[in-house]
Amino acid sequence: MNLVVQTESEKRMKMQPVKGTRDFYPPQMAVRNFIVDGWKASSIRNGFVEYDGPIFEYLQMYQVKSGDEIVEQLFNFTDRGNRHLAIRPEITPTLARMINKQINALPMPIKWFSVPRLCRAERPQKGRLREFFQWNIDIIGIEDVLADAEVICCSLDYLRNTGLTSKDVVAKISSRRLLAALLKNIGIAEEKLESLYPILDKKTKIPVEAFVEMLEKEIDSPETIQAILKLMDIHSVNDIPDIVKLDEKAQESLDELKRVFAYLEKMGAEDWCRFDMSIVRGLAYYTGMVFEIHDKSGDLRAICGGGRYDNLLSDFGGPKVTATGMGMGDAVLEILLREKGLLTDDSLDIQKLDYFVACVDGDLFDEAVEITTKIRQKGYAANFSYKTNALKKQMKIADSMNAAKCIIVGGELKESGQLVIKDMATGEQILVDATTFLE
Ligand code: HAM
Repeated sequence: MNLVVQTESEKRMKMQPVKGTRDFYPPQMAVRNFIVDGWKASSIRNGFVEYDGPIFEYLQMYQVKSGDEIVEQLFNFTDRGNRHLAIRPEITPTLARMINKQINALPMPIKWFSVPRLCRAERPQKGRLREFFQWNIDIIGIEDVLADAEVICCSLDYLRNTGLTSKDVVAKISSRRLLAALLKNIGIAEEKLESLYPILDKKTKIPVEAFVEMLEKEIDSPETIQAILKLMDIHSVNDIPDIVKLDEKAQESLDELKRVFAYLEKMGAEDWCRFDMSIVRGLAYYTGMVFEIHDKSGDLRAICGGGRYDNLLSDFGGPKVTATGMGMGDAVLEILLREKGLLTDDSLDIQKLDYFVACVDGDLFDEAVEITTKIRQKGYAANFSYKTNALKKQMKIADSMNAAKCIIVGGELKESGQLVIKDMATGEQILVDATTFLE
């Protein structure tokens, strides 16, 4: 027998939740359900169907195309068969793998959504946790930027439904394809792009000196670094031709991005959207339109992020199928909704009952349990008190369980076979025939 002696402080340590994880007591679960239910409703409204995958995958799957940042944040382990596995830090690689597996059977285009529980070994901070939930919507098999615009609009559709407005949040949109073409025009070799993107993604997240320092590690020429800084500061698509020379590829990418904005206008989302060259995204697989939605005060990290990734399925050994999508986490969103007064603890029901069954005295307790069972069998949510408290106390319990109606089992049941039904909102009471009511 392996006896490990633990000190008192070691025992106490074990009882703590891991840093960056959350316990969902019923009030926190109500918040999570409120967010997730809204995500699901938005997905369904916008024509997406739900999927899910396993919570862990082969480690290698995230090393192929997600980029170094996410690889550094992996919770990975080796199983008893010596397989190297990782808990999913995102679901996009799983989605690509799943679609490749059934590529011949799945009718295109695919519009799928999912709400996976994800883990990233990040340093826990405001809006960043080690375990979180992330709404994903992805459209596979549509090359036209209409799909990109639809992904942005669906994300905004959810946010609009929470009560947020274009005064609160902004979708910042750019294009990796355009950025690549412009960087090439200022002398950056194509092979450099993959290592440069995660640095450019940091532009607005770190002080400019630190940003320049990071660039200096990749680029020798101070002129090129200056050109990059100028490029990253462009805030209008119309300014681009004045600042950088456009070759055919850059012009094509710019036209494509303008078409995204034209679709967004048609979809009535123009007030919520703006071009922002500093949106690059940290993940390696993006190839076209990229976007992030931010709170306008700029105090929080991105509410969501996504973009086009046309090579991921082929990088995973499948055919070349285009894809675009986004992920929105629950952590930043919850902070923002609370800050804006759109989510308060007392606005959510932790419990909701159709009926609470109370009895006027202990002799009728068995009847109350029997009636509760029958009501549950009819498909209603019903509960009773385990203790035969005074009726007043039972009414209080009914209230705390948020019961719409209370069935009061009293002397009438034995005398005339009737039950009292009390409407908890109005206080109105009616008498009903028990047999008819319960049949
Ligand atoms: P991402 O930018 O890594 O993209 O994450 C998207 C969103 O997930 C973030 O904007 C944030 O709301 C949330 N998030 C990320 N990390 C954390 C964390 N440690 N704690 C709390 N929330 C977090 C992706 O994951 C892409 N796979 C999205 C995508 C789907 N692109 C195309 N399809």
